[in-house]
Amino acid sequence: MDIKSRINTLVDELNYHAYRYYILDDPEISDSEYDTLFNELQRLEKQNPSLVLSYSPTQKVGFKVLDNFTKVKHRFPMLSLSNVFNYEELEGFDERVKKLLNINKPIEYIAEPKLDGLAVAIRYENGLYVKAATRGDGEVGEDITENIRTIKNVPLKMFGDDFPKVFEIRGEVVIPTKRFEELNRQKIKADEKPFANPRNAAAGSVRQLDSKITSQRPLYFYAHSFTEEESFKSHSDALNKAKEWGFMVPENILVTKDIKKVESFFSELIESRDKLPVGIDGGVIKVNSIELQKELGYIARSPRWAVAWKPPAQNAVTTVNSITVQVGRTGVLTPVAELEPVEVGGVEIKRATLHNASDLEKKDVRVGDTVVIERAGDVIPSIVRVISVKDVKRNAPFTFPKQCPECGTHTHRDGVNFVCTNTKCPARIKEAIHHFISRNSMNIDGVGEKLIDQLVEKRFINTFSDIYTLNEATLLMLERMGAKSAKNSMDAINASKNVTMDRFINALGIDLIGQESSKELCKRFSKIEDLFHIKKEALENIYGFGPNIIESLVSYFNDNKNIEEIKKLLSLGVNISNRSENTSNKFNGMTFVITGSFEEMTRDEITKLIEDHGGKVSSSVSKKTSYVVAGKEPGSKLEKAEELGVKITDLNKLKNL
Ligand code: IVH
Repeated sequence: MDIKSRINTLVDELNYHAYRYYILDDPEISDSEYDTLFNELQRLEKQNPSLVLSYSPTQKVGFKVLDNFTKVKHRFPMLSLSNVFNYEELEGFDERVKKLLNINKPIEYIAEPKLDGLAVAIRYENGLYVKAATRGDGEVGEDITENIRTIKNVPLKMFGDDFPKVFEIRGEVVIPTKRFEELNRQKIKADEKPFANPRNAAAGSVRQLDSKITSQRPLYFYAHSFTEEESFKSHSDALNKAKEWGFMVPENILVTKDIKKVESFFSELIESRDKLPVGIDGGVIKVNSIELQKELGYIARSPRWAVAWKPPAQNAVTTVNSITVQVGRTGVLTPVAELEPVEVGGVEIKRATLHNASDLEKKDVRVGDTVVIERAGDVIPSIVRVISVKDVKRNAPFTFPKQCPECGTHTHRDGVNFVCTNTKCPARIKEAIHHFISRNSMNIDGVGEKLIDQLVEKRFINTFSDIYTLNEATLLMLERMGAKSAKNSMDAINASKNVTMDRFINALGIDLIGQESSKELCKRFSKIEDLFHIKKEALENIYGFGPNIIESLVSYFNDNKNIEEIKKLLSLGVNISNRSENTSNKFNGMTFVITGSFEEMTRDEITKLIEDHGGKVSSSVSKKTSYVVAGKEPGSKLEKAEELGVKITDLNKLKNL
């Protein structure tokens, strides 16, 4: 084969495999096989620059640095949605639609999540990526072609051949919640202002003049509207087509003629919002038929055929009763506001974090202040700001303790934080080990934090590896420890020795490396030893890894103390495996949906059980769902499964499977 054809083949193959990976979530080849093909392409392109195709995956890394963003006028204005805030208003929308259409029968609707991201429009000509723009004022946006090009799940060439010659697809650019939290941890560490929400994080990442920075951010594009709608009969058709053509579309959707079902769909969506991978700020309901959409038309800047449903706010106002200080596993003193209890989104909140000393100073939070708190996802609530009340005398500003509240060592200021420098501070050891044993780490479920605290206080353990030198006799020396619990604890410790590499890396508690980054690392490295004495270059171009993460890993894995500790863990029988070796492939290719509540296991545990055996867990039921796992009080998902004839199982049957 000549070089030109080889390049063409490689580009097509790599684009196809990226589609399998990002859009269908069903890869056909391993990451390392992908990398091998990618490297070959990169080498050939380097030797033959004139043969580089505009839609080659190598064009996704970002290289052009701009002076400013130029303006682009949208071919069709980018509209917004009017809002409804409760179910009466939602039913009012349904009635209005019927009245305007003069139809007395139920209308078919499509309900989707309202993704909390940045609205963008992307244009394709003859199936090739040509331009991308922000919404701007709806008429004129900013040209972000170079930035959007770097997003991994945005195709540079559409699949198939039945698409319109000029095709504009619109949607949201989002950052998954976990990635958003990691990004904010980095920001806080660098004394930069954290992003207020995933939308701001997505917008800040896209609006970079240097597209290389954008390429390092974990951005995803979800399509939700189209300009050439004539090509489709219904919006659900359009979404299906878009997926075939290579785009990611919202997964969790409902098509129904029953407005009540839309209500329960939205309620479930909001209840599960903390568990969804991507942040949402409500739901969107649209008339499904394109013909009826055309008939309904627009009013001012919003369509008459759609509305956004906005759930109650996740903010609340309360007062600060006191400010305490917690010593974390790196010795950082984190200020915590102890609050007058208040309910936010159905959960009682008593404490809120103040990130660090600098954050506390900037927000100037004092005991007695009235504050706005915010709960985003299942993260610890944070204080947004102080509400100043005129003529109210405030307490003095908070001062950090001069001595570590745990070990009495002198504290000092280091950048944005006050820190305790005593590496043997029991609080640090306790926190590090709490993290080490936690569910997403070594998962030593028979050993609780209280037990660890006693073991550290009694100096039985100091390091991670000390856990694996414990025996029943030592445990029996602890308070309230009987023979049976000692044996259970030892069983749990021994059982934890078989661990997957991502959980092991997470357990180490490396600065800035959480669950998601650990998983990314495992895609590139298959043995923990591969990370020993790692160099910066070997960590470049990992999805979502910016310079801070890389530096943290380099410094951790070039510190002999850490390497010795890992070696010690291995010598004590910790056995690190890749997911597939440790478990089975029984559920390979199968998708499960979990609904209702369970007594014996948490949802996370059920998810893990399924994933460990090769299955996938999705949040919505479709024809492709293999099983719905139903617990107590299952919601509308069960109904939908029955409607579609999807198999239903309970927890016991699942375990037997
Ligand atoms: S449809 C005619 N669907 O919410 C407007 N919008 O205020 C068509 N959004 O600017 C929008 N998720 O960027 C639609 N599933 C979804 C959406 C969605 C988020 C954004 C969109 C729009 C804003 C509406």
